[in-house]
Amino acid sequence: MGAENQSLQTVLGQFPAEAGSLIPILQSVQAHLGYISAQAVCEIAQALRLTESQVYGVASFYAQFRFTPPARHGICVCLGTACHVRGGERLMENLQRELGAAMGTSTSDGRFDLDRVACLGCCALSPVVKVDSDIYSSVTTMKLKGIVNGYE
Ligand code: FES
Repeated sequence: MGAENQSLQTVLGQFPAEAGSLIPILQSVQAHLGYISAQAVCEIAQALRLTESQVYGVASFYAQFRFTPPARHGICVCLGTACHVRGGERLMENLQRELGAAMGTSTSDGRFDLDRVACLGCCALSPVVKVDSDIYSSVTTMKLKGIVNGYE
């Protein structure tokens, strides 16, 4: 039995086999695997006596679930009002061009997930960029290049 399969069986064993368990199971699978794999959808459907498209339908309704493995790093540009006014949008455009990935997607080498956030709660330091759990303040396009290069 593979590691993924073992994790899935562990998760499925923690919840009653009924449709009402679907969301908590999806949340737990994502916490264990980092995403909802095709195999997970198949096994969840079997365990809860649902079709795979029912499981996909529910999971894809919620933005919190992803269907591809997470990249090695998550880079997030704040586009809240303060950061937007002070150049957040330009930073996002720059990153999309440099990384060759659209907002909400991953780079093809699996290095970065690129996303936006509404406010990181440190508006006085705007514009702000977050990489994994590191916060970078007063980011300029020049500074951004150095930040990105710091993550393999
Ligand atoms: S708007 Fe960016 S930290 Fe608040």
